[in-house]
Formats: sequence, structure tokens, C-alpha cells
Amino acid sequence: MTDQNQTIAVEKLSQAEAEVELARLAEEIQTHDARYHGEDDPLISDADYDALRRRNLEIEQRFPDLVREDSPSKNVGFVALDKFEKVTHAIAMLSLDNAFTDDDVTEFANRVRRFLKLAPDAPLELTAEPKIDGLSLSLRYEQGRLVTAATRGDGATGENVTVNARTISDIPHVLSGKDHPEIIEIRGEVYMTHAAFAELNRQMENEGKPTYVNPRNTAAGSLRQLDSAITAKRPLKFFAYAWGEMSALPANTQMGMVAKMEEWGFKTNPLMKSYENVAALVAHYHAIEEERASLGYDIDGVVYKINDLALQERLGFVSRAPRWAIAHKFPAEKAWTILNGIDIQVGRTGSLTPVARLEPVTVGGVVVTNATLHNEDYVRGIGNDGQEIRDGKDLRIGDHVMIQRAGDVIPQILDVDIAKRLPGSKPFPFPDRCPACGSHAVRDINLKTGKTDVVRRCTGGLVCPAQAIERLKHFVSRLALDIDGFGDKQAEAFYQDGMIADAADIFTLRERDARSLTKLKNRDGWGETSASNLFDAIDERRNVDLYRLIFGLGIRHVGEQTAKDLARAYGTAENFYDSMMRIGDENGEGLEELVAIDGIGETVASSLREFFGEERNHDVLSRLLKEVSPKPVEVASSDSPVAGKTIVFTGSLEQMTRDEAKAMAERLGARVSGSVSAKTDLVVAGPGAGSKLKKAQELGVETTDEDGWFKLIGRT
Ligand code: IVH
Repeated sequence: MTDQNQTIAVEKLSQAEAEVELARLAEEIQTHDARYHGEDDPLISDADYDALRRRNLEIEQRFPDLVREDSPSKNVGFVALDKFEKVTHAIAMLSLDNAFTDDDVTEFANRVRRFLKLAPDAPLELTAEPKIDGLSLSLRYEQGRLVTAATRGDGATGENVTVNARTISDIPHVLSGKDHPEIIEIRGEVYMTHAAFAELNRQMENEGKPTYVNPRNTAAGSLRQLDSAITAKRPLKFFAYAWGEMSALPANTQMGMVAKMEEWGFKTNPLMKSYENVAALVAHYHAIEEERASLGYDIDGVVYKINDLALQERLGFVSRAPRWAIAHKFPAEKAWTILNGIDIQVGRTGSLTPVARLEPVTVGGVVVTNATLHNEDYVRGIGNDGQEIRDGKDLRIGDHVMIQRAGDVIPQILDVDIAKRLPGSKPFPFPDRCPACGSHAVRDINLKTGKTDVVRRCTGGLVCPAQAIERLKHFVSRLALDIDGFGDKQAEAFYQDGMIADAADIFTLRERDARSLTKLKNRDGWGETSASNLFDAIDERRNVDLYRLIFGLGIRHVGEQTAKDLARAYGTAENFYDSMMRIGDENGEGLEELVAIDGIGETVASSLREFFGEERNHDVLSRLLKEVSPKPVEVASSDSPVAGKTIVFTGSLEQMTRDEAKAMAERLGARVSGSVSAKTDLVVAGPGAGSKLKKAQELGVETTDEDGWFKLIGRT
């Protein structure tokens, strides 16, 4: 299994490569599931995990014959779909006519009265409720059980998103109460709160990924995920407000129906009220408008509906919209202002994010001074998805720009007035150096898709102050240096206090502390013993395994396995260092040498080149190597009986831990895998071994127990 396989585009994988890749993904996802669910200590971000699952699915879709018994798509309780089925709505999902002014609302009420032949001053009861800015969903219940959830689609036919809808906690799987009509179709809006949206974007930013543009699109994208595990991780919500097919109507008013929905276990909007005249309706509209910014979710107007269902029935529909309802839209929260500048912020993982500095302007009662620009392409007028935005108009300093604000979501730039553009203005030169540390900032080419990454990243991993804390945490983490008593908390505190700026500083801490006037032992939370224990723990790790040091550097795409492959190939830290200094060579020799290594593909090679192409990273590594002497890699014996074999350990091992077993096998030149396939040479099964052992037997793979293993390797 080479690293290249990880990055070959799915459509380019051969059958054989796909088989190997599926085995690798099954193993890797299994490991992450165990960490996530079992130990609540994930090794990778949710987004990276999602990417693994997605790749697994895509390969399975291309090679359905290769779907494994232990495929992650089968075993986590989430069903994955290859595309959504179509659903024909029993009753069409309609849209609403719009009113923009108070007069439009009066006119609507008059129209209704005329149609019903009511006197102009006859009382007419109407409901008023927020118009949620999400996407509508129709939920069909039979005998009180959810059977289908369908998107609106074109109103007549939507998509079957039942599996995904079931992951939304506001949507009951079984209705509460009793005596429900046999068939109930509830309609309402799926939406995402501002808080959940902001949190999701914070995560994306932390991971150096492109951020989402607004809660509505994110909610829509989340509901339409083919992998429901992704939907499940997005905090979507649902308000019920209407219905489709009903085998019996349990109430005769709109308010009564909504009360029933609540009884059945749905969330309905607390701001829904009913009124007898237009003046009161409009007053409620203005009250909701006042509250709009503090609701915590996006609304774009107020919907009025005739309360009496018998009157609704008589009024019926005109083309695609009911005659008995109207949406009173809020004026758009938009304004024109001037783009005074574009700042570049560096995220904790080195992503460069542009932010618009605006001439302050009041929008919807709030003064706006900046707007999000997402990434370089967005500034150029191309969205995250490659689509043109603002008609492909780029943003230039001094431009007149139209901004939109909705709730407490960060404002966006919607348009540019090209007619007012200053003569001589130039497209914004997006920096190719990190503003925080001056290192090169680059956009990777994603070898899976062949596309350039939307995010530009700083390559000064070891020196960039914007990335320093996260790097330090990674460096001391369990799979890297694993220094006893030195975790995230200490990394953060030592960095903030100026005691440690980079990885190399950790190893000079004792010496510097001895000379310092503010000694560690005198600091809050520390004492003589704890400080000296920490220094000892640091010293103990001066001769870590080489791969831990390589992994600890936090080079993009260099995970634990790749670090092991590199360590094995170079043997000693000196060798590794010398070779890395050469990979940027003009003649490309260093690079050739790299891709020739088993396990190293182009993605890793180019990532290493970027990292070591940055001189200041050399500096930190060379200072680090003055302090530590990583253990040279024991050369795996090629004459051991398991050299070159692929081995799976399963069941509970009694004489050694899983980690020991793995290390032992690797020392003997074997490769250890987490899942059984036709390529497995040996399965070592302890008590309690289940599906893996069974699979091995089915495939005719050799199996043994722990004693057999020790005998095989001559350690009895
Ligand atoms: S009632 C037959 N009530 O607005 C009328 N719609 O522009 C059914 N919407 O497709 C719709 N909040 O997605 C209704 N409180 C609300 C709503 C609402 C949002 C959406 C719905 C509809 C669209 C029409």
C-alpha cells in the first residue's frame, strides 16, 4: 500500500488498487471510529473523517463488487446512498405570493374578502408567523411512524432524504400522543441556527478549510448529503408549520392544527399569533422585525394565513400559491459602502483568510465595518464551488460594494459597482507570503481532484506565530513526542508566557529555567517536584523513535504511517535531515529519491518539499537535532519468517498489547493491517476474535493464536 493510492482520483483507480484502498480505508475508519466513540479522543477532524468516508463510498460506488464485509458504509448504523430517489408529493408543495409594503397586506385582505363575498369591514381572522429562511421538507407518517421525508424539489417531485431527516433531533421518528390520523404529512422548514453555523465555520477555519457562506445554504447542503453520517454531525433544526396529505383533519383552524403538531412532538414557532385585523397583523410584523437580529436563526419575513380551514378550502389556489396566505417580506438588509482595505488573517493551521475592511455603514440598525471574504477565489469573484459570484467581478480596494447582513451572521459582499471603480485600480494582489511570519504561502493541488485548493496556506509551520500553539500541541501529543505531564494545557501556557516559542525550545527549558528569575517551580500550579518531574520527562524523550520526531513536526500529509515509512527509509535523524535539505535541489534528485520510498507519493513529497523549502523550518529542525538524538531505526530483518508479510491481530491479546504486537511485527519486517482481505498473509487471533477471524477462514488466510505467533517468530 503506497501513499499514492490515498491520493489517486477515484475514477483513476484500477480494480486492484481499489481493493487495496478499500482495505486501507476500512482499517483507518475503524481506528478513527474506535477513537471517536470508544475513547472520545479523535485523532483527526470531523471533516477529514468525512473525507475518508466519502472516498470509501465513492470507490464502492465504482466497484460495487469490492464492497467489503467490514466496510464502514455497513457498520455504523448510517445508511449511505448513491443518489436520492425521487418522491412524488401526494399534494404539491406550494410557494407563497409576496407582499412588500403594509398596503400590499391591506390589498391581500381585501382580495380575500372580495373572493369570499364578505363585507369590507367583516372580521377576518389571520395568523402571523415568521417566515423561516431554510428549506422546506415534507414528512410523511403512517400509523404515527415516519416513513418518508422529501425535499420540495419542483413542488411536485422532491428527493427522498428520509435517512438524513432521521438524524435531525427536532423530527420525531414516532409521533407522541394517540389517535393520530392514519396518514399525516407534516411540512416545515429545516434550518441552522447562527450559533451552530458560526461553530461549524470555526471548525472549518481551525482545520484550514474553506468556510461556508450562510446558514441556509449550509442547511440545504447538509440535508442533501449522500452520507447521512455527515448530516448527523450538522446541528439542523426543524419548525413545523403546514401539512400535505391528511387522512383526517384533527382541527378546523390553522392555530388548532399547529397546536396538534406540537402535541405530536414537533417544534412550532413561538412567535405565531392570530389577529382579527390588518393593523394588528402589521404591528406583529414590525415587532418580529425588531426581534429579528436576536432570534438566533434567519427569517426573511412574516407569513399571514387565513385561520379558518373551511375558508382556506373555499379560497383555494392560483397557479402555484394559495389564495389564503401571503409572505410579508422584510426589506433586504443591504447597503452600499466602500471597501477600504483587505486584511489577511492567518488561522491556527496556517490558512490565509482575507477580511474586508469597510467604510462603516449602518445595515438593519447595526454598524458594519468588516465583511468576510472567505478565500482568495472569493476575492477574485469565484465562489468555493468554482461558480462565479458577483458575476465574476473581482474586489479592488476603493470599490463601492453592496453588503448584506442577516442576523448576527458575518456580513457578505454581494455586488460591486464597476461604474464607480477608481481609474487605475488593480485586482487585489493576494499575498504569496504569510503576513504573520513571512514564509511562503501556497495553494496545494489536490491530487484527488486535480484542482487547486481554495485555501492558501503558510508553509512556515515551525516558525509562524499564528500556528505556533497548535504546532506545539501536536509536537507533544501522544503519537508524537508524548512527554509525560506536557499536554495541550502546558503547551498553551508556556507559549503565552514566552517560555517556549517552538519545538526546539522545549529541550532547553531546564537550562533556561535554571538561569531565569521567574522559575517554573514558583509559578501558579507548579512546585519544586512537579517542575523537576517535567524537566526529567522532557529529558527522557531526547531519544525518541525517529518516526515520532518526524510525525511531531506536523508536516501536512505526514501522518504516523508516513512518518514511519520515512524513518525506516532514512534510518537516522542526520540522514533524514541531510536528505530533506536536498529535496528542493534544482536537479530534482532529492525529490526523486523521496518518491522512490515505499509509501511516499507525490502529495507527501510535495508537502515535504514545501516544508523544507522554507529555510526557517531548517533552522528549528537543526536546533532541535542539537538537543535530541532520536533512536536510529532498527533495520527490519529481511530473513525473519514474517518479513514482507501482511499481518492482522484480532481478538484480545494476553501476552502483549496491541501496540507491542504491532511494533514487534514491524521490527520483523511485517506490515500490520487492521482488516482482513485476500492480501492478508496471517491472522493472529486471540480470544473473542469475531468477524475478522471468520473472514480469514472464509478467504483461506492462515490463522494462528498468540502462542503460535511467538513460536513462528522464534520467541518461545
Ligand atoms: S406556509 C401552502 N409558513 O416559504 C403554503 N411557508 O416562499 C405553505 N416558509 O416553500 C407554506 N416559513 O419553504 C409557510 N411559516 C411558514 C414558512 C414558510 C418559511 C417557506 C416554505 C415555502 C416558502 C414560500
